[in-house]
Amino acid sequence: MKILAIETSCDDTGVAVLEVSKTSNFKVLSNVIASQIKVHQKYGGVFPMMAKREHQRNLVPVFMRALKQAKLLKISNSQFLISKTEKIKEILGREPELYKKLVSFLKKYDKPKVDFISVTNGPGLEPCLWVGVNFAKALSYVWDIPVIPVNHIEGHILVNFLNPRPHALNPKSFPAIALVVSGGHTQIILVRKPFGAAQGKLFSYEILGETRDDAAGECFDKCAKILGLGYPGGPIISKMAEGIKPTNTLPRPMFNTKDYDFSFSGLKTAVLYADRKVANKNINYKRAMSAEVQQAIIDVLIKKTTKAIKDFGAKSLILGGGVSANKELRKQFKACLLGQEKLIDTELIFPEPKLSTDNGLMIAVTGYFNRRNSLQPGSVQAKKWEKIVANGNLRI
Ligand code: KG4
Ligand code: ZN
Repeated sequence: MKILAIETSCDDTGVAVLEVSKTSNFKVLSNVIASQIKVHQKYGGVFPMMAKREHQRNLVPVFMRALKQAKLLKISNSQFLISKTEKIKEILGREPELYKKLVSFLKKYDKPKVDFISVTNGPGLEPCLWVGVNFAKALSYVWDIPVIPVNHIEGHILVNFLNPRPHALNPKSFPAIALVVSGGHTQIILVRKPFGAAQGKLFSYEILGETRDDAAGECFDKCAKILGLGYPGGPIISKMAEGIKPTNTLPRPMFNTKDYDFSFSGLKTAVLYADRKVANKNINYKRAMSAEVQQAIIDVLIKKTTKAIKDFGAKSLILGGGVSANKELRKQFKACLLGQEKLIDTELIFPEPKLSTDNGLMIAVTGYFNRRNSLQPGSVQAKKWEKIVANGNLRI
């Protein structure tokens, strides 16, 4: 079966095509991403309405590249039904630019051979989510194929199971603790019951803790802005911090609390105050401060995550989200969980760094697992496209 997946929850426009064999072997046919970094760089953050405009602009070209790479883009020799344009216009009523681009695509190309569409319907920036959701709905209407709405956070978790490794989906790896760390979220999630088809889901999830204010990625981004380093801050800070030993001068908010929650806004404020006192903001200062910021964030992430692993007897740690691409975070998690002390007998399940950040493939894999389970007796069925809505605050 072939799955077409669409991701527009933040500032990356992603479309992927995934082929899954009867024995659940995955073959990635395409995974195209258009980043909006250049647009948002000037502002040091993402403005939802600007991001929405970019998604409208990029979605059809990205979609065409994804189909072309998957060898599914075929020039049409039949007549596109003009009678369908009114309904498409209604579905894309709030995305007029996308409507025009989609109709010219549909006039020129045939329906690709895909079995269903999966699309991120939350959480994320709502105007951005709607672009992808309405696009998926329009395609579902025109081509008469089902749509599976996908939770973005679940996508960050399940992208780890794209290429089954010995531990992946092995019952012995569960319960697991997932740490999803991105620009919008920082959550510790208890992941249970592999193979449980209940509710049409592969796993059951329980959010144990999350950030009370800024997300970890947001903290990287805001601190980078204060230090004049550019956007997105995470990769830049990580690069600047390479080879620098932190001296632990910044606070570690909520480090000793008994819950699994985080708070990062105080850390950003501490960086702001410290920065005001520095007269010569040369490269050495920026590199040193980058190492301090990175280590402060890593310390709290590792502290709370290992606490959850111990408290729930987790057998594995699953990382996901943009911040999980951070080399130092991965290294320190490995050292802490698998090092000489080997405090915990835990498997580490990390995504390929390029699959840590937002992409369509994570939505394809999650759509596949949800669809596979929804086909089992007694579980939920694919939703009618009319019923799908975007929800910026969707919970896993
Ligand atoms: O998952 P993602 O692509 O988008 C959201 O769902 O938010 O995450 C983007 C975030 C940004 O805040 C970015 O600064 C951060 O991930 N990020 C990193 C690294 N790469 C991306 N943070 C730390 N180290 C990295 N190498
Ligand atoms: Zn994300």
